[in-house]
Amino acid sequence: MYHTPSLGRSDDSAVDSSSVPGTPSDMSMFAQAYSIPADSLDMGALPERVGTPQPSRYHMALPDILHPETASSVPIRTICCIGAGYVGGPTAAVIALHNPHIRVVVVDRDQRRIDAWKSRHLPIHEPGLEDVVRIARDGAAETRRRGDSPTGDTMDAARQPNLFFSTACIETIKIADMCLISVNTPTKTRGVGAGRATDMAALEGACRDIAMHAKAGCVLVEKSTVPCKTGQLIKDIMEAHRPGVVFPVLSNPEFLSEGTAIRDLMQPDRVVIGCESTISGHRAAAALANLYAAWVPRSRIAPIGIWSSELCKLAANAMLAQRISSINSISAICERTDADVGEIAKSIGLDPRIGPQFLKAGLGFGGSCFRKDIASLTYLAESLGLPEVAAYWQQVLTMNDFQRDRFARHVIATLNNSLRGKKVAILGYAFKKNTGDARESPALDVIRILLEEGPKSITIYDPLCSEADIKRELSVLERDYAVSMPSGPVEVVSDPYTACANSNAVLILTDWDMFKNSKPVTQSSKPVTIAQTYDGATPTDVLHLTPRIERVTINKPPTPPRTPKLSPLAPELNTRLLPEPSCPADCTVCRSSSSAGMSAETDTTTPIDWATISKTVREPRWVFDGRGVLDARAMVGMGFRLETLGRASMY
Ligand code: UDX
Ligand code: UDX
Repeated sequence: MYHTPSLGRSDDSAVDSSSVPGTPSDMSMFAQAYSIPADSLDMGALPERVGTPQPSRYHMALPDILHPETASSVPIRTICCIGAGYVGGPTAAVIALHNPHIRVVVVDRDQRRIDAWKSRHLPIHEPGLEDVVRIARDGAAETRRRGDSPTGDTMDAARQPNLFFSTACIETIKIADMCLISVNTPTKTRGVGAGRATDMAALEGACRDIAMHAKAGCVLVEKSTVPCKTGQLIKDIMEAHRPGVVFPVLSNPEFLSEGTAIRDLMQPDRVVIGCESTISGHRAAAALANLYAAWVPRSRIAPIGIWSSELCKLAANAMLAQRISSINSISAICERTDADVGEIAKSIGLDPRIGPQFLKAGLGFGGSCFRKDIASLTYLAESLGLPEVAAYWQQVLTMNDFQRDRFARHVIATLNNSLRGKKVAILGYAFKKNTGDARESPALDVIRILLEEGPKSITIYDPLCSEADIKRELSVLERDYAVSMPSGPVEVVSDPYTACANSNAVLILTDWDMFKNSKPVTQSSKPVTIAQTYDGATPTDVLHLTPRIERVTINKPPTPPRTPKLSPLAPELNTRLLPEPSCPADCTVCRSSSSAGMSAETDTTTPIDWATISKTVREPRWVFDGRGVLDARAMVGMGFRLETLGRASMY
């Protein structure tokens, strides 16, 4: 069964005994300050069931989370972020960037990952991340700007480094006022709930470390995606190790998309902060809200109950994924009726109640979150005795699998039900465009099905996924077949023309702009600047680098994982930044990029030349568009036979 945490109270009530970290409190003083009736002091404030509303008198008495003064009672000087992964690293970096007075230390047990964060070659490639890390990690020198103001020169203050990376987890936890828990929470692969339940081992381990070493009152923040009621599990762990000591637990889910993580952090639609309806909960939430308020308007910070906060992350991803499965189900009908799913998506998206986002039909969703989070949701529902709810969400996954399965089988059927002696070219491996992330890609499922037919070769081209990453992902198929050349048929190549030459079919599996045969779409989104603030927000001089920093564009094209590039910072800013850490003479990353002669950035938008490809592929020139990126008429005009997911055949 799914872990159903106990609802027992240990330490906290509507009025609890916490205060400034490490400082014992005076209950009666708090009661006075917040006008809480004395008879409520020993009453539990946690709901008995998820969603049970709190008695309103407690709400009336609790301090305002969004009021800056509430935060002043929980001073935050040092933050420990546990887990230097995709979520922990960028989140910590942006918090540090905007809060230069706070020391942010990211810890991870993986020495290589920490070394990479400390080096010129970051382990994660997100547009803008390098700029943020450069400023917060390396700092800047004091500079005089001549004649910049009517009264004369302007001095830009020095900025000390305040972002650090370390493997010294315990030592950092000991001095932290707040711990962000950003360890991985994958799906369990064995035991109870395998394939659906969340593997909480890393989170439990991190909590045990905090419980044994943290200062009393240290605020614990769940950043990792977790099942609803995990906050209670954390409180139980803390209580078991440190009975009677209050550690406020908050939920602060991330909503970062790969490729736009820094933009999502700099300009969030909302910052959800879940807390308990207790004084310590509200005060801790206020302290966290205050960190975000350095660059996010308080109107965009949403304080909600902790259980709602935990569940809203799963619900948000489930709803997005559900839209994709819904439009994909329509795409299957389109193929049999001469309707066009692109036209349908466009027309229904014009309804403001529906909106245009996440209606692109294709091979279904990949990535590290949607599948995992829906699996977790179905398991949660089942564990709560709600099989109908579980079945409803399970169907979103079933439809997702159906989509790639029927695409691959349609390719095989079109090629006369056999791939023997045939070459299949695959354009795009990443789970979506603008990322070099090869994990959880729909391409893996398509290739698995193609391999059943024993093709002569499968040649893969992706502009950003590295050969090593693709092969590592494909290695799970080795159980059944020899996969990679020379013993297997799969080869990863570095240009699309080589991939397509002499192929019997070309498959488009990622929606890269470069695969389109129409004009490249110019980036319509407005660039984000590092010091950009919202209308109505208090202007932040977070960088101590104004005003020049405001001109630094961080929304540059995605950085290829194998291409360390020159700093994009404006030259005048570069002179202010303290030096980057130097690389050892034998740095393999520097060497591989220079020997490969790679350009500073890989062009992923200039369209490939389909006319050239049409001359090198085998008749009858099959192209299978799994992402709806090709203009059908133009392709047919070049002599291709095009099959597009969600459209009737056109050739
Ligand atoms: C995150 C969230 O954790 C996950 O819940 C969400 O759904 C997706 O994003 P992510 O940051 O992508 O995961 O995970 P990963 O890149 O694997 O980073 C986790 C880091 O935590 C790893 O570097 C790992 O070494 C570290 N870790 C894990 C520890 O330092 N200590 C541990 O005990 C466990
Ligand atoms: C997602 C959520 O968007 C983000 O809020 C959450 O924090 C993490 O998970 P991500 O997985 O990075 O982000 O990518 P996203 O852009 O959401 O795309 C997920 C998958 O859905 C991709 O495979 C993409 O190709 C697919 N997709 C997306 C579609 O098939 N159609 C669409 O219309 C949109």
